[in-house]
Order: sequence, then structure tokens, then C-alpha cells
Amino acid sequence: MKYFERMKEKFEKLQNKKDVIILSIESSCDETSIAVVKNGREILSNIIASQIEIHRRFGGVVPEVASRNHILAISNIFKQAIEQAGIEKSDIDAVAVTYGAGLVGALLVGVNFAKALAYSLDVPLIAVSHVHGHIAGNYVSHAKLEPPFLCLMVSGGHCAILRVEDYNSFKLIGSTVDDAVGECFDKVARVLSLPYPGGPEIDKLAKEGHKTHNFVVSNSLKNTFNFSFSGIKTAVVNYVHNMEQKGEKINKADIAFSFQDDVTNELVEKTVRACKEQGLNKIIVAGGVGANSMLREKFEKACANDGFEFFSPVLKLCTDNAAMIGSASYYMMKDGLGLADLSLTAKATVGL
Ligand code: KG4
Ligand code: ZN
Repeated sequence: MKYFERMKEKFEKLQNKKDVIILSIESSCDETSIAVVKNGREILSNIIASQIEIHRRFGGVVPEVASRNHILAISNIFKQAIEQAGIEKSDIDAVAVTYGAGLVGALLVGVNFAKALAYSLDVPLIAVSHVHGHIAGNYVSHAKLEPPFLCLMVSGGHCAILRVEDYNSFKLIGSTVDDAVGECFDKVARVLSLPYPGGPEIDKLAKEGHKTHNFVVSNSLKNTFNFSFSGIKTAVVNYVHNMEQKGEKINKADIAFSFQDDVTNELVEKTVRACKEQGLNKIIVAGGVGANSMLREKFEKACANDGFEFFSPVLKLCTDNAAMIGSASYYMMKDGLGLADLSLTAKATVGL
């Protein structure tokens, strides 16, 4: 029997197998991560090797440097993931991998490792979208969480409101018309001379600040579910530059607080309104910016007010990790989706 036909048969058999163990790989940006996840919910291991320290001196991720460091790290991380999970390689039922969206050179390291591994173990290979993975970060954080729900996806590359109808069925309700929200956090942090990545730094600094500025410049998207953050970002950058030119001191904590307050107000107001309009009763956040403490607090409050349930991944599972990919791939497999052959390659952009 031909290779792909054999894999298809094995893949279909997994749908009825009692316990399914998936080894998953994530390398879309500056984290090399490999996880072992059982039945889409139970994390047996989730090794995350961050390159943050390496990229910090450049003020952001350098794609070529990221790829090289993924190559250096991946074999060792694989060994750790297997060891920590307490399994043998022969226990692996399938290999899942992020194939996009992300930095192509970085993704290729994970994709090629996954292909070689799946081939050598003679198990199916499952191709997962990074954004889909972020949503599933909530399934490995909350054992009982099930769709349908409304999802606010906020990361370095994405900002969108999605209706998650089922594990593999999504509808776009609104999205950014310009920058992703994580990008704005990073840019504002840079203008305030805070280290990369800026999101956690702004989050920390804002705790010492107060609302002294209003950086919202336009209300043109007010009644829609779309977002625009480049205006707020530019308003902060212009304010800081103006003050510098005048030789006046700025209060970084107040700027961080004011910026974060403006951005999170916008995110929470639109998501809660969309949840009402969609007739749903659960809101989840997904993606790196979902780790933001002010965003989480505002969602907790707004959801308590409106009688909605609110879920966010545990902090470690907000930012990039392979456990979320393992979870997403399990539910894809259950619906017969995502089986890839050895021609699988990395993509800079992919749909959900
Ligand atoms: O999901 P992620 O790890 O990678 C992408 O898929 O992009 O998200 C990274 C983004 C970065 O822009 C980072 O600054 C932001 O998430 N981030 C935060 C926080 N932690 C990470 N933004 C705001 N507050 C945080 N606590
Ligand atoms: Zn991500």
C-alpha cells in the first residue's frame, strides 16, 4: 500500500482509539516547543525553549537567528519532551506541527523535524494552523471548556473576534484593519526604551501608573467589531517624541497605563458586545496579549456583569507553546482533518 494511503488508514483508526497520544511541535517564531498531549486535554509534557534573551539585544525577533536557534535546540527538546512525558517513542500515535502562520524559516525547522519523525515512526502527520492552536490553549487549561463560545484572538500577529461554533468551525466577526495588538504593545514599549518583548514590560510598568492621557484618536469603527490600533500607537509615539524634543520628562508608567487602558477598553467593549449579538454566553481570550493582567481583569468584571463565563489560558499557555498545537490536532483528527503528506511545507500566512 502506498505511504499516504497507509497513513490515511492509520489516521482514521485513531478516531475510535480510546487513548490517543500526540507529539506536537511549534516553531513559528522565537519559541522552540515540543509537547506530548493525551486525548487533546492532558499535557504529559510541554517543553518550551525561549529565544527571548538572544533576540532582546536586537529589539525584536531576527528571523535568520530564530531559524538557526530552532535547529540547535530541537533535537534536545524532543528528547526532553519524551522523557518528561514518561513515554516511549513507540507510544506516539501521531505527530502534529504548526505549518503557519509565522516566520517561514523558523516554521520550516519544526515542519521538517515533524515530517522526518512521523515518517520514521510510521505514524500520521497533522498540519495545524498557529491561530487554531492558540484557541486550543484554552482546552488544555480548562478541562470542561467546550464550544460554542466567542474568542478574542490577540497575539503579535493577530487581532480578531471569532465565533467558535465547534472545535473546527470558526466564523470571523471582526478583525484589526491595521496593526495586530501585540505589535502595538511591542512598538510602544520600544519608544519607552523597554526591552523586547514589550507586552509583559508594559503590563508590569502600568501597575505603577495612572490614567493621565487619552490616546484614542478616532471613533470611526465604533459601531463595528473591527479594531484599529495604529492611531493609538502613533499618538503615543508622537507624544513621547514631542516631549523629548522639548526636553521634558515623561512618566513612563502613566503612559504605559494610559495606552493599555485605551487598548483594553476597546478589546473588551467590542468582544462583549459581539458576544451579546451572537447570542453566546462564554468568552475566551487566546494569544500572547491574552496574558495581559488588565485585559483579564476587565473581562472578568464585564463578564460577571453580563452573566457570561470567561476563560483565559493559564499564563504559560497564552504565549507560544506546543501543547496548544497538540490539543488542536486531536480535535482535527477526530473530525478527519489536517492529515498531511511529506510534501507539507511552511506558510507565512494561513487561514484558520
Ligand atoms: O502569541 P504570541 O506568543 O506570539 C504570536 O503568535 O504572535 O504573542 C506574542 C505577543 C507579543 O507581542 C508580546 O508582547 C505580547 O504577545 N504579550 C503581551 C503580554 N505577554 C505577551 N502583551 C500584553 N501583555 C502581556 N502580559
Ligand atoms: Zn502565537
